[in-house]
Amino acid sequence: MSATVLMIRRDDADAPVDVAVETLEDSALPDGAVTIDVTHSSINYKDALVLAGRPGLVREHPHVPGIDLAGTVRACDDAKFAPGDEVLVTGCWLGERHWGGMTTRARVPSAWVVARPSGMDAHRAMALGTAGFTAQLSVDALVHGGVRPGDGPVLVTGATGGVGSIAVMLLSRAGHEVEAATGSSGDPEVETLLTALGAARTVTREDVSGAAGRALATARWAGVIDVAGGATLAGALAQTRPGGVVAACGLADDTALATTVMPFIIRGVTLTGIDSVLHPVELRPAVWERLHGAVDADLLARVTTTIALAEVPARATQLLERGVRGRTVIDTNA
Ligand SMILES: NC(=O)c1ccc[n+]([C@@H]2O[C@H](COP(=O)([O-])OP(=O)(O)OC[C@H]3O[C@@H](n4cnc5c(N)ncnc54)[C@H](OP(=O)(O)O)[C@@H]3O)[C@@H](O)[C@H]2O)c1
Repeated sequence: MSATVLMIRRDDADAPVDVAVETLEDSALPDGAVTIDVTHSSINYKDALVLAGRPGLVREHPHVPGIDLAGTVRACDDAKFAPGDEVLVTGCWLGERHWGGMTTRARVPSAWVVARPSGMDAHRAMALGTAGFTAQLSVDALVHGGVRPGDGPVLVTGATGGVGSIAVMLLSRAGHEVEAATGSSGDPEVETLLTALGAARTVTREDVSGAAGRALATARWAGVIDVAGGATLAGALAQTRPGGVVAACGLADDTALATTVMPFIIRGVTLTGIDSVLHPVELRPAVWERLHGAVDADLLARVTTTIALAEVPARATQLLERGVRGRTVIDTNA
């Protein structure tokens, strides 16, 4: 049996990477108890960094990228899964330390594999992917922190991105008044899209980051889901209402965070971190169930583009250049 994979090769650490679609014998796949016939993967920002050969994520080449995969179990060496089971994998070390999902066949540890919720096909699983999983974890963090519909507006930053667009859908569906921060505020097409996803209104990135450097500013948001870090996160903290919760899940703006203790000691704001990669596997099925139940299929389709393996390198470049909105699914058999 052979697999079609997107392979990244690099001759030495200083050389640029070569990326090509290749055919491999199954015997060349890495060790792992579960062999999966992969039909779909997706591209996340981290994948674009890997495909560009940026240091720090991949330890060894050749390498198959893809932090997400969905498909059907072909074989399993332990009792956890049976052939034909519909599954997905996100995070763990998929696509980083271990070969990833941009392939028609993968072999992974069974501890990483999650049964897909009933009725969730592989394309939908990957339209959600790590981005959707992270959005759901972020919403869960707000709920856990006591943010309720009616408490006041909740802010989502990077609202046209993968995590942001799904977070807007989830929060709106849960009854929150959502303010969507986007670099494209005022663009009629973006305003229409974000309104359709459930945003009550859009705000500019500067509306959020403008308060960075101030200990406290006018208290606006009962909750925040932030994909940006940097001045965006600092500005959001300074504008969060007393008792509010800020879920920090990304670094689209910056990894640095310059803030003061004032939001925490004067307003009792909670800053909570979101990590989708090492989220305990035993807790994942319930997260996927909530996500599956809460995201409208038509809205998800509106923010999803589907491409073939051969189109991935160009799409990754676009993603790094910030030219992509929403989610990109890869049909690995196309
Ligand atoms: N913690 C985790 O486990 C986890 C999981 C998934 C992703 N992430 C991280 O979360 C972030 C978002 O992921 P994603 O998949 O949604 O990425 P994405 O699809 O590339 O979306 C990121 C969005 O952020 C906004 N943005 C870009 N540059 C910005 C800047 N300088 N300042 C403020 N906003 C900016 C853009 O939206 P607008 O144009 O609408 O502003 C962009 O679409 C990334 O940093 C990613 O690495 C973390």
